Amino acid sequence: MLNYSLFDPEKCEFIAVGPEADIPDGDRLFVEIDQLPIVIFRVGGKLFAIADQCSHDEGPLGDGYREGYEVVCPRHGARFDIRNGKALALPAVVDIPAYPVRVVNQQIEVGLPLDK
Ligand code: FES
Repeated sequence: MLNYSLFDPEKCEFIAVGPEADIPDGDRLFVEIDQLPIVIFRVGGKLFAIADQCSHDEGPLGDGYREGYEVVCPRHGARFDIRNGKALALPAVVDIPAYPVRVVNQQIEVGLPLDK
């Protein structure tokens, strides 16, 4: 079983994905980097990026309902922590990737692991 945790920012290459203003608080932004679907959430003013793909059956996780720091997969109801990608509820048992996010010159940057 492969379980992820938030990738170490020191071991990531940061890619600019758009202006910070594109994600109002409570909203989300979908991006694709190197063919990886990623969804970025802003909650309480902070940004969090996770894979836009459920580990259960590849459901479009970013389309799911968000409750606090949890997002609910729209296909079968698995829950994930958007802060670290941890699987919190069945039927998912495998975590999803969580990527570090930073803002540089009003641009959102997502960190992808250098050794991917
Ligand atoms: S695809 Fe997400 S819970 Fe099944």
